[in-house]
Amino acid sequence: MRTQVAIVGGGPAGLMLGRLLELRGIESVVIERRDREYVQQRVRAGVLEQATMDLMDEVGLGARMHAEGLVHGGVELRFDGEGHRIALSDLTGGRAITIYGQQEVVKDLIEARVASDLPLYFEVSDVSVDPAAPSVRFTHEGVDHVLECDVIAGCDGFHGVCRPTIADVLTVYEREYPFGWLGILAECEPSSDELIYAHHERGFALASMRSPTVTRMYLQCEPDEDVANWSDQAIWNELDRRFGMSVNRGDVFEKGVTPMRSFVVEPMQHERLYLAGDAAHIVPPTGAKGLNTAMADVYLLAHGIDAFYGGDDSRLAAYSSRALERVWRVQHFSWWMTSMLHRFAGDDDFQLKLQQSQLRYTVSSAAQATALAENYVGMPFIAE
Ligand code: FAD
Ligand code: DHB
Repeated sequence: MRTQVAIVGGGPAGLMLGRLLELRGIESVVIERRDREYVQQRVRAGVLEQATMDLMDEVGLGARMHAEGLVHGGVELRFDGEGHRIALSDLTGGRAITIYGQQEVVKDLIEARVASDLPLYFEVSDVSVDPAAPSVRFTHEGVDHVLECDVIAGCDGFHGVCRPTIADVLTVYEREYPFGWLGILAECEPSSDELIYAHHERGFALASMRSPTVTRMYLQCEPDEDVANWSDQAIWNELDRRFGMSVNRGDVFEKGVTPMRSFVVEPMQHERLYLAGDAAHIVPPTGAKGLNTAMADVYLLAHGIDAFYGGDDSRLAAYSSRALERVWRVQHFSWWMTSMLHRFAGDDDFQLKLQQSQLRYTVSSAAQATALAENYVGMPFIAE
């Protein structure tokens, strides 16, 4: 088998890269370890930056997002029992975020790829990559394949095979946080029109949503928290405490714990293997940046690959350093939001006072509120 670009991983990064290449007339094959149902149901991120929304439009897949997504022009920071609105759109010249589940983005991308009749193999196994003589080996439906290509895109997430293959040439920058997030989805009207990020002495809480009838909530918890220890009643009671109000309650139909870590490898490339998305970096979810940064990577990568086929290799050569500029901005923002809003084990009162001061400054200074807003809605994706 031969193609131009072999894409390992059918998550948001791999599927969007495939779509961007399709629109440039570049061939690709996407291979994915899980089955279609699984990737379409996997509950993860929910916030699309303005640039991710624009990208969905650019690739002709924005219709359902516009029909079903919820556009927000602000978020609330809540501390000392009071809410303070950060007017995202007013502070950023009209930019906004949209609430649209990651799995909806994935569904739209898979549907488009299937409609275009382009190769997308689910449930592959025994995947290995050769970055030097670019090729990917995998097994599908009991048959072993060798896929030769010009470029390999490693979009296989944090637990994939691409990054470990080139581990010898990578420098790892990493920070683990001593807590996780317990997340729920519940059948009830959201308790607020906009997202609420709450600082509380018992720990952080976040109120989000997926639709006018589905609520998404998170609570800071132990990193290895067993969800079995949390009855629905206990979760709702804790949410009420941390938000300082009675939140709407409903049937909880999904519960999970997400560990929190910051992680970056440099460079994001070796020979003809280019890493994108969670394969190269992870952020704690507080800034809602994971999915959006994956999209920014593949936007840059698609332009680099396009230029490569036009005879100019310089953009692909610059891919890693260009991508890492945004990655580190996002790392800083996510670390800053995380540090400002969570309680860390062993924090003393001095630390608490610093957090409270930072929060007060953020909601009262136009400069600081604007800094939060422009990072939260995200910078435009630029490939030039
Ligand atoms: P992934 O979505 O991980 O996709 C990688 C794909 O590669 C997967 O489909 C995987 O099955 C496949 N794969 C892996 N190994 C192989 C292989 N060997 N061969 C072929 N395919 C392979 N971000 C936020 O902004 N907010 C959140 O609330 C949030 N919650 C999260 C909760 C969890 C549990 C996790 C894990 C992440 C969360 N994130 C969140 C981060 C966000 O979901 C990711 O940043 C985003 O999914 C990155 O997309 P990706 O395509 O790079 O990687
Ligand atoms: C959601 C997740 C986030 O990490 C975040 O910062 C905001 C919202 C969500 O899943 O809705």
